Amino acid sequence: MSGVNKNIVILISGSGSNMAAIVEAARAQRWDAKHGARVAAVISNKAAAQGLVWAKEQGLVTAVIDHSGFDSREDFDTALMAEIDRYHPALVVLAGFMRILTPGFVRHYEGRLVNIHPSLLPAFTGLKTHQRAIDMGCRFAGATVHRVTTELDHGEILEQAVVPVLPGDTAETLAVRVLAQEHVIYPVALERLLAAQ
Ligand code: GRF
Repeated sequence: MSGVNKNIVILISGSGSNMAAIVEAARAQRWDAKHGARVAAVISNKAAAQGLVWAKEQGLVTAVIDHSGFDSREDFDTALMAEIDRYHPALVVLAGFMRILTPGFVRHYEGRLVNIHPSLLPAFTGLKTHQRAIDMGCRFAGATVHRVTTELDHGEILEQAVVPVLPGDTAETLAVRVLAQEHVIYPVALERLLAAQ
């Protein structure tokens, strides 16, 4: 379609449920017509990522850049950037992409790079967020969409969702509740960014 010139590239490592939520929102809410935007490619650092199966079924362009085939983070990121830049993306969306990115990568996509993190940042950066929230006795947990900066899980907060931590919650039951909200807030945050571009 003419006028669709904002490419979104989504990076995944695993199940890709956030990716699917974004793809479905883009379709349902006509991001092509409203924002001239489309999901141009889904790229994984793992060939076995479940999300790739779904993405292919949807007819999306997919690619795998396997990090284990590179000697250094810099080399991997250079290859990843080359693949991403084929699409001249307006947004690079980290959706369960489980690699720490080099400062060079982050700078290259400054202003275009966003992530979702399963905690109410700035609390609980890093891993095992749900267990840590439970262990601390938090009454609330949640998820955050944020811009990516060179400091891990920092950067401007774009959207958040809060969920209760319920008595008897395990990391797994809490994760399910949080993930459902991730699927709501990620498309909302991305659509706002697209509308502002
Ligand atoms: C999500 O909880 C996300 O916040 C975290 O990794 C998980 C990815 O899930 N960074 P999915 O691959 O989108 O299903």
